[in-house]
Amino acid sequence: MKGKFVVANWKMNCNISEAKALVSEIIESYKKLKIVNCKLKIVLCPPFTALQSVSLIIRSSDYSFIHLGAQNCHFMPCGAYTGEISPKMLKDFCDFVILGHSERRKFFGETDELINKKIRTVLDVGLCPIVCIDEYKKGEKSEIIFNQVEKAIQDVKEKDLEKIIFAYEPIWAISTSADRQDCEPSYASKIIKEIKELLHNKTPVFYGGSVDVSNISAFVNEQMLDGFLVGGASLKPKSFIKIIETVGAKDVSKS
Ligand code: PGA
Repeated sequence: MKGKFVVANWKMNCNISEAKALVSEIIESYKKLKIVNCKLKIVLCPPFTALQSVSLIIRSSDYSFIHLGAQNCHFMPCGAYTGEISPKMLKDFCDFVILGHSERRKFFGETDELINKKIRTVLDVGLCPIVCIDEYKKGEKSEIIFNQVEKAIQDVKEKDLEKIIFAYEPIWAISTSADRQDCEPSYASKIIKEIKELLHNKTPVFYGGSVDVSNISAFVNEQMLDGFLVGGASLKPKSFIKIIETVGAKDVSKS
């Protein structure tokens, strides 16, 4: 996968009209940016209820580098699972789906085994999983992080490994964490390098955790990071577009 990614995780925010307003403002602001020849990819992940509306607006923009993603899905393609959304249904709108976010692990008891099942079904239907890897305490033993990666790819076909994206998202750095701490870009880079080595450098790895206008320039200087998963700042169009501009400018200068 060439070019950096900026992924917007809107979490449980935005009804349909708010989501339409947000994506429209992002697109209108993007038009005013002077980014040319960059390989940047943007993935917007609204809640399920807004996927169709956001999808229509993205498609009518003709910006093929803006993609749609979901924030979760079930591990089966279809069946008697009341209230669930399957990867096959998401395929109507999305190219990506976030899996194993720390909020899903923490509030909904998702385990590495469940996340692995979801990854395999998502790959089978042709979506790209963005798999979140947590770190509960700063400086936690690398084995805990590696264990999540290893369990995530269990029984994944060799040829599918390069179709997965990982996101290193230390819980302690997420903007809504009670005891939030800053994650230094060099620290993120070190862990991401280790994750990539574990995956034989076949898989892109993003960083997520309080990425905003104040720190994106520093993060973007770390070559090891293939993209950014942005929560809170992605709901503020001006901040989000500034992040895109900063990442895009770096992508151009590298090309
Ligand atoms: P944050 O969220 O950017 O608000 O820290 C990131 C995430 O939870 O994906």
